[in-house]
Amino acid sequence: MSRAERQGLLAVSLCVFLALSSPSTVASRGGGGNGKPLVTAITKDASTSLYTVPIKDGHSLVLDLAGALVWATCDASHPTLECHHHFCMYAHSYLPPNCPQNGYGHADVKDPFRCQCTAHPYNPFSGESASVDLTRTRLSANATDGKNPLYPVSFTAVTSCAPESHLEKLPAGAVGIAGLAPTRLALQAQVAGTQNVANKFALCLPSGGDGVAIFGYFISATKISVNHEQVQLYDHGPLVVELSSRIPYTVFRPDVYRAFIDAFDKATAERKRVTPPVAPFELCYDSRELGSTRLGYAVPQIDLELEGGENWTVFGGNSMAQVNDNTACLAFVKMTGEKGNPPAVVIGGFQMENNLLVFDDEKARLGFSGLLWGRQTTCSNFNFTLAA
Ligand SMILES: *[C@@H]1O[C@H](CO)[C@@H](O)[C@H](O)[C@H]1NC(C)=O
Ligand SMILES: *[C@@H]1O[C@H](CO)[C@@H](O)[C@H](O)[C@H]1NC(C)=O
Ligand SMILES: *[C@@H]1O[C@H](CO)[C@@H](O)[C@H](O)[C@H]1NC(C)=O
Repeated sequence: MSRAERQGLLAVSLCVFLALSSPSTVASRGGGGNGKPLVTAITKDASTSLYTVPIKDGHSLVLDLAGALVWATCDASHPTLECHHHFCMYAHSYLPPNCPQNGYGHADVKDPFRCQCTAHPYNPFSGESASVDLTRTRLSANATDGKNPLYPVSFTAVTSCAPESHLEKLPAGAVGIAGLAPTRLALQAQVAGTQNVANKFALCLPSGGDGVAIFGYFISATKISVNHEQVQLYDHGPLVVELSSRIPYTVFRPDVYRAFIDAFDKATAERKRVTPPVAPFELCYDSRELGSTRLGYAVPQIDLELEGGENWTVFGGNSMAQVNDNTACLAFVKMTGEKGNPPAVVIGGFQMENNLLVFDDEKARLGFSGLLWGRQTTCSNFNFTLAA
């Protein structure tokens, strides 16, 4: 791929978010959806590197792969669910960090016998939680046949309110967060419940900016290889891998990081370096001399061998970040401030970009396509023209 083509890709910010799927057999009770998956564009915000979807009356919500709920700022006139509602119980099954369990709700000011449900939306970027009303909100997207949008669809979702002050560190214009964790109040579960589609979604993150999208699924890897050679690690147990849209670049636990960087350093011993490297990276190269392939720079491929036998293969397009005109750096960083039992690897937004990821909550499975450039496409190629 030429430089011009690569820059062309970086310039595009639209992408696809599909609640993929065939009609679900279990969701046929109610809702009113007709079994068509929904699609919405994803935009990467240049200043925060977060990914947003315009699903709340044209306003954006930030995608968070580890978020348990959908939350947004509310009008003063919003309805509030009652405490005995099963959605109130679901909202209380996931308490954010540092949030005291203080009961399901509070008495209604007008009717003290009515208990109004309180939810605890969490903003992972500011680290704040709030205690606010659990409400219902209209969300909208387009039905799709998988190729084009077909027609607009609105549906009512159970969401949490949030004060304006809770929007700290979100992209300008965003009014909340759409959680995508495997929970009952996550966005995809509510699309499934109202549209008669399976509880499953596909995410194709666009490049451009220094991105992040979040994810609470854990997968496990058995080995890491660089150029088909296994990286020698001290700890021979399974490597816990997490996906996170909250961080731009993949981070490795310090022991794994050292062994990985040393292996990549050795595999690229002949390549022309740029020193000192550009922080936060440790290995930087003269990009004019790296050579190009249709999968990005011609650098050693990295394989994360997952339990189950599949490889998450990272080619130059997802391993090397262009930090200035003539310099590209190996875009993996060392985990800092880890405590307890940290995962070995947290895959960040840059390494997920232009990879079609399919999260199947019903089967608890993650599918991925590998870098789409090899198939002459990108996450920005979905045709957003309405089908005739
Ligand atoms: C639905 O598709 C139309 C046509 O592409 C687009 O203008 C509109 O923004 C889409 N709506 C949503 C919510 O994505
Ligand atoms: C995964 O990658 C490793 C290292 O490159 C390779 O030896 C192995 O054959 C690959 N497995 C599959 C299923 O492609
Ligand atoms: C996008 O879809 C529309 C409607 O189906 C079609 O007319 C148009 O040719 C498509 N564009 C591309 C680039 O395929």
